[in-house]
Amino acid sequence: MAMMAMCVSKRLLLLPILAMMAIQFLFVRTVSSVNMTNSYLHHKCFVDQGKYEPESEYEENLNRIIDPIPVTSESFERGTKMEMIGEGSDLISFTLQCRGDTSGPRCRSCYATALSALRRRCPSYKGRMIWYDQCILEISTIDSLDKIDYSNNLCMSNAKKIMAHYYSNSDWLDLIHNLTTKAIRQGNSKGMYYAAGETRLGIDNIYAMVQCSFYLSSRDCEKCLRHNIKHYEDCLFNRQGARVLGKSCSFRYEFYPFLLEKSSHKYLKI
Ligand SMILES: *[C@@H]1O[C@H](CO)[C@@H](O)[C@H](O)[C@H]1NC(C)=O
Ligand SMILES: *[C@@H]1O[C@H](CO)[C@@H](O)[C@H](O)[C@H]1NC(C)=O
Repeated sequence: MAMMAMCVSKRLLLLPILAMMAIQFLFVRTVSSVNMTNSYLHHKCFVDQGKYEPESEYEENLNRIIDPIPVTSESFERGTKMEMIGEGSDLISFTLQCRGDTSGPRCRSCYATALSALRRRCPSYKGRMIWYDQCILEISTIDSLDKIDYSNNLCMSNAKKIMAHYYSNSDWLDLIHNLTTKAIRQGNSKGMYYAAGETRLGIDNIYAMVQCSFYLSSRDCEKCLRHNIKHYEDCLFNRQGARVLGKSCSFRYEFYPFLLEKSSHKYLKI
């Protein structure tokens, strides 16, 4: 995997983190957007959830979930899998969430990449999470199925600022809000709430997607997206592209097409 050019601005990183120290696991980064198909973005080992012993019951349960996902699994078709086994400090809450355009073999391949990277980066940790462009994988002892998870979101944005006289935040915000409405209207029969689209802005286009977990109600989907837009304002606003990626909901906007599949053919000019 090619390395992603990351230019983390100290000032931008520090301010929001200081302001939100109370909030666990807040990641705000500034990166330059790149056109990679499945870049590694970030990972987190949840040290406070402890480690498991080899050959323990925990490990057995874990192996029961992670390895045998069949290639043809409906989970990969749907692009999402959530499962829970065990209890107490041995609870395993497993969540795989592929990006809406990444179902089937691409979801499976992202999962395989994410799983091996997670094993390597956080060996034996009961709590661990990894973000890729095309999927998010989390294994945790905390039961957060059916709830909006506000704690483990990753916000990344293009270091380049927009020219305020040319565009405004409302241009991409409008698109995100419209896509949210569309994702909710279409429901979650295919496994998740998802919508992608574009809008013309002068000589440029803005491309965007929104997505929510299959397990949320449509009301919570909207709530999650709206909350994150507000919460990550510092990271998101006035950029030439940005994204917030989380277990419950994600969205992204760019000035170039970044999705892969036919669902987005409208905006891939091939
Ligand atoms: C990404 O690709 C699009 C079209 O292929 C291009 O217009 C854009 O400049 C690229 N962006 C970056 C950051 O390389
Ligand atoms: C959003 O939806 C409104 C109402 O349907 C429409 O007028 C507007 O052009 C849309 N904006 C974008 C950016 O999609």
